[in-house]
Amino acid sequence: MTVEGRPGVTTAEGPQVSGDGQAGAAEQDSLSDTTATAERTAAVQLTGVDKVYTAGSVTALSAVSLTVAPREFVSLIGPSGCGKSTLLRIIADLEQPTGGTVTVHGKTARQARIDQDYGIAFQQSGLLDWRTVQANVELPLELHKVPKNERRSRSAELLEMAGLTDFAKRYPAELSGGMQQRVAIVRALAPKPSLLLMDEPFGALDEMTRERMQGELLRIAGETEAAVVFVTHSIPEAVFLSDRVVVMSPRPGRITEIVPTGGWGRRDAAEAGDEVRSSPAFFAAVAAVRAALRDGHGGSGAVAGRELR
Ligand SMILES: Nc1ncnc2c1ncn2[C@@H]1O[C@H](COP(=O)(O)OP(=O)(O)OP(=O)(O)O)[C@@H](O)[C@H]1O
Ligand SMILES: [Mg+2]
Repeated sequence: MTVEGRPGVTTAEGPQVSGDGQAGAAEQDSLSDTTATAERTAAVQLTGVDKVYTAGSVTALSAVSLTVAPREFVSLIGPSGCGKSTLLRIIADLEQPTGGTVTVHGKTARQARIDQDYGIAFQQSGLLDWRTVQANVELPLELHKVPKNERRSRSAELLEMAGLTDFAKRYPAELSGGMQQRVAIVRALAPKPSLLLMDEPFGALDEMTRERMQGELLRIAGETEAAVVFVTHSIPEAVFLSDRVVVMSPRPGRITEIVPTGGWGRRDAAEAGDEVRSSPAFFAAVAAVRAALRDGHGGSGAVAGRELR
């Protein structure tokens, strides 16, 4: 597999960083892709989203605009408190914005939640203590009225993927934090949602399990053609997984830069993770995100709420 050879992929000279709004050659490719996908409904469309928490008068988000295309993998990265979780909760309709609009597959966030259009795996595993591991994984399938035998085979397949087959009949409290997190991840994947919202889902995992789950996530997201909005503090993780890395900065939380790292190719990356992770293009993209984070921190070069797609 040649990492450099794929469309829209960073070159040996480094990734095209779209902070100045000047589209480079690689970005032109992705822009024409965008034109093609623009005909279809965006997985997520955020327009001028603000969030002010009256308690403490915190402006958690200011003028955030972002379009996530169908099947696109977008990571949000930025220092603690810059509003990543708030943004994800707003997309999930667990929080209301104080300004701006949000649509999910062209619907209001509320309608998308009612229609169960997305799966979520958040910082806390959110498992139901009184349900076994298997029953937790099957919960969204029950809500989707999937027949029992199909639920059984799907949960068995997912638990095997997560390395938890032997724990199917155990309860969450009997599992380690990382094991609980793996259950929460496969539960989110169970109904094969067309949108996955994930907030630091791999934070509690050891490095090798984390890399395996990253590969599995790419494989499943590819198979189910899901768009993913993924929050992480890990630059290499964001670069490995994403088509674009959205860099945010705090006070007020806003998008300062969008780094197109994309084109690793979900299935290829899942199969050739080591090759991708040790490629010059990968290191160049990591350096670009790190630089964007540093610039955002310093407050220079920030473009509040700019949609660069
Ligand atoms: N329910 C709430 N009430 C008041 N303020 C809140 C609430 N939730 C979040 N905030 C504030 O909004 C800001 C953004 O918080 P958020 O949890 O979105 O940050 P984050 O980027 O996810 O941080 P971390 O990386 O630490 O998870 C913070 O200043 C936080 O104190
Ligand atoms: Mg958070």
